[in-house]
Formats: sequence, structure tokens, C-alpha cells
Amino acid sequence: MRILAIESSCDETAAAIIRNGCTVESNVISTSRQAFEQTGGVIPEDAARRQVECILPVIHGAMKEAEATWNTIDAIAVTKGPGLLGSLLVGTMAARAIAHIHHKPLIGVHHTLGHLSSTWLGLDPQTPPTFPILSLSASGGHTDVWLRTSHTKGSLIGRTRDDAAGEAFDKGASLLGLPYPGGPSISKAGAEGNPHAYKFPKPLQHTETLEFSFSGLKTALRYIIRDLGTLQDEMIADLAASYEYALCMHLVDRLIQSIRTYPEIQEIHIVGGVSANNRLRSLIQASVPSHVTVRFPHQLSYCTDNAAMIGSAATFMVQELGQDAYEIFETVASLPLEHALKSE
Ligand code: KG4
Ligand code: ZN
Repeated sequence: MRILAIESSCDETAAAIIRNGCTVESNVISTSRQAFEQTGGVIPEDAARRQVECILPVIHGAMKEAEATWNTIDAIAVTKGPGLLGSLLVGTMAARAIAHIHHKPLIGVHHTLGHLSSTWLGLDPQTPPTFPILSLSASGGHTDVWLRTSHTKGSLIGRTRDDAAGEAFDKGASLLGLPYPGGPSISKAGAEGNPHAYKFPKPLQHTETLEFSFSGLKTALRYIIRDLGTLQDEMIADLAASYEYALCMHLVDRLIQSIRTYPEIQEIHIVGGVSANNRLRSLIQASVPSHVTVRFPHQLSYCTDNAAMIGSAATFMVQELGQDAYEIFETVASLPLEHALKSE
């Protein structure tokens, strides 16, 4: 099955051609990130205007790179939500129009289901991961743990009580005077810093909950910065490294708690923008028991928002749900997290 996929839920405009859920024939992304570097976050109206400018060149770019013609495309997939409404409308309108004009079936994909499928991109379809899988999805808008029994079925076993992990990186970067998005800029600023220079609280440490809480870490950073006064470069490096370490350790801590709660788990997948973090990757590899297979998206570009993951999710939806994968959908900014997977 060859799918043209479109993702436009935030500040990235993306299109990809995916074959059989795993093979990425093209993956084109245009980002308006630079426009928001100094604003501390995305301005929704500006992001939507950029989407309008980028959507057609990006789609044509993906078709050209894959040397695809319309009669070789079996279906169109698009992120239906959640996200910024203006941005989502641009992608879904384009997808609806293309599907109508070229007589292709249309598949609306939950953004989180896309992230959950991103670990299949670039894999050999003959040796797929084995369910049940515990998936941690950590991005700018969500941080949640799923127990998945198939591509489309499973349950949400943990989520954040306040900020998302990526949001904590973004807000921390803003407090430190570093550009958006915060994850990469904190990693860069902290690369030479000491991760143990500043002590941060350990959220929810004496509980067995599988939930997360990041707002206390952000508040602790604010107070440390206030007490330090003027920040020298060396202090920023140590603060960035210590804050990054504290955020990553909280994710690792809750992940280990999840494995204790579900000892039958054989595989752990870490997805979403925060899964690009190198410190997180090495801390997880060092902490997870050796019988558990740990997978991250194969390429860094599959961690942050991209259309390839939407095409992959759509393919597996068709495999598992049949005609239901093509059901009519609305474009919605707030789509409940629980709608990403069907419960058993
Ligand atoms: O998945 P994504 O591209 O968009 C959402 O669905 O939100 O994730 C974006 C988030 C941002 O908050 C960004 O700071 C974070 O992912 N991020 C990172 C890294 N790269 C992106 N966080 C930590 N380390 C990174 N290397
Ligand atoms: Zn995302």
C-alpha cells in the first residue's frame, strides 16, 4: 500500500510517501520554527499563515522525491487533530481536496497514533516489533504512556498531571534566555555543563503512580535563576545540564515504574520530539532491564512532527480496522488522547 501523508498540526508543514507502513520513499518538512525562536513558542495565527504558503510545495516535493504519480497512490492520510485549528485546517483541506480530485480514499489519523507508529519507519516489515508494547510518547503537547496490544488497540496507563515534557524544556529554555524549541537549545547549552551542579526535586518519587509532573521542576529552575542573579555562561551550561538531567530522570523513573507494574512487557518504545534527546536515550538504555528491547525512532527527523509517521499509522489502521479506517472525520483542535487507540 502506497500512501501520501500530510501533517500540519503545529508549526511544521510536512508530506511523505510511505509504502507498506515502513518504507519512507520521501519525507519533506518545512518548518516555520525560525520565526518563533525569540517568541518562546508558536504564535498560532502566524503558524497557520505559513502553512498556507508551504502546503502545496511540500506535497509536490514529496511526490517528486518519491517519483510518484497520482495513479500509483492508494490513499491519502492526514492528521485530523489534535493541534492548532488553523494549521490543522490547511492540511486537512488540502488532503480532502486531493482525495476528491484524484478519487482516493481519505484516512484521518490522530496525531498521537502517528507518533506511536514512528518506530516502524525504516524497519524491515519482515521483522516487526512484538506486542504488547509499552510506548512513552513525549512531545511539546503531550507526555503519556500506553500499553499497546496492537497498532490500533491499547490503553493509556499514565499521563502528565500538568506540563508536557517538551513544554518543560521549552519553558526552561525561555527562563534561561535560550531559543525555542527548548529541547535542542537546552541540550546544546548544557553539552559542556555539569548535570549534578544544581539539585532539582524528584517529582512523585515516593509514589507508585505512572503519571508525570513537570511543573515543579520548572518552578525550581525559576527560583534557582532568581537566587543566582546575573547568569554567566558557565552557570547557564550547568543549569541547562542539571535541568535536562532532572527532566530526563523523571521520565526514566516513571518508565521503570511502568515496567515494574507490567512485567510482561518485552518492548519499550520512546517517541515524540523529546525522544530525540541524547541524554534521555543513554539514561534509558542504562536503566531498562536487559530483557526489554528499547526502540527509538530510527532517525531524529521521525521523532519530531513529520508526515511519514502519519502514513505509517494510516497503513496499520487499514490493516487492522478495514473499512472503518476510512470513516468520515472532523478536523478538531482538541481531540481526546484516549481516541488515539481503541480500548480492548
Ligand atoms: O513531537 P513534536 O515535534 O511536536 C509536538 O507534537 O508537540 O515535539 C516538539 C517538542 C518541543 O517541546 C521540543 O522542545 C521537544 O519536542 N524536543 C526536544 C528535543 N527536540 C525536540 N526535547 C528534548 N530534547 C530534544 N533533542
Ligand atoms: Zn507531535
